[in-house]
Amino acid sequence: MEEIKKIGILTSGGDAPGMNAAIRAVVRAGIHEGFDVFGIRRGYMGMIEGDIIPLTSQLVSGIIQKGGTILQTARCKEFMSYEGRKKAYDELVRFGIQAVIVIGGDGSFTGASIMTKEFDIPFIGIPGTIDNDLFGTDYTIGYDTALNTVVEAVDKIRDTASSHGRIFFVEVMGKEAGFVALRSGIACGAEGILVPEEKGQMEKLRKYLAERARSKKSSIILVAEGDEEGGAIPIARIIRNEFPELDIRTTILGHIQRGGSPSAFDRVTASRMGAAAIDALLDDQKSIMIGMVNNEIVHVPLSKTVKLHKDLDFDLLKLAEILI
Ligand code: F6P
Repeated sequence: MEEIKKIGILTSGGDAPGMNAAIRAVVRAGIHEGFDVFGIRRGYMGMIEGDIIPLTSQLVSGIIQKGGTILQTARCKEFMSYEGRKKAYDELVRFGIQAVIVIGGDGSFTGASIMTKEFDIPFIGIPGTIDNDLFGTDYTIGYDTALNTVVEAVDKIRDTASSHGRIFFVEVMGKEAGFVALRSGIACGAEGILVPEEKGQMEKLRKYLAERARSKKSSIILVAEGDEEGGAIPIARIIRNEFPELDIRTTILGHIQRGGSPSAFDRVTASRMGAAAIDALLDDQKSIMIGMVNNEIVHVPLSKTVKLHKDLDFDLLKLAEILI
């Protein structure tokens, strides 16, 4: 394989706090190893349009603490077609880019995995999503910051809930997974955590509410947006009908979970993964994701991380129930 001298980096899918720390690490570790590093703006959309800029150490100065992504991101339907990926490949060739590092989630890695096979160009994935739903890694960049954002918001909701003796259904992000709901629920001392991975949770909730109805203390029920009942609003409606005596409110946390200055954990994880992506290219890796398992950097084939499902930690879910 020809020696790699020029590499591209892009951010794709939903943005996540810590993406900038990863960009900074890729640029500075890449320059340290003698690479020319190019920023591909707006994800695969920018790759197709040739929206590509050279990145320098100076350009990534002062970004480690910034949420979001200086390269911007986008979801790109055109990249899902061969014609779109061919246009993207032609632009990479035009800039002389010989390998690409993509920071994103499973959707972004699916496209990368296909493009590596079609055009024999190395793609190295860095897991960047607040959902933490990627197979092969304990943590994705942004997850820890999102947990802290949820905890801070729910602690505030707890103040007003306890003042009024109310029940709050609080919906958190996570796509079809319950990773955000589970750990933030434990951290907030939630009285209920509804996740897509567990069936029959409504019965448990009804039993809890029937028992607590007499106490009139506040309750926080965290609901993962992908929950089987469809989220906090439909669940609150069902419960309101069945327990008319309860004082119920709902809060959808939404996109505040995607913003904010990344936590120290996310900054260090992103820095480690960014540097590990450069090492992977030096090691002639072609189609892998950089993961972290038991605090060690691992390589996971992209084909596996996009295909295999990451299981929720059911011991943690059981702990949450015990601690209510
Ligand atoms: O994948 C990250 C995520 O925040 C999910 O948790 C959420 O369901 C989705 O992105 C929201 O997508 P958008 O920002 O396009 O509304």
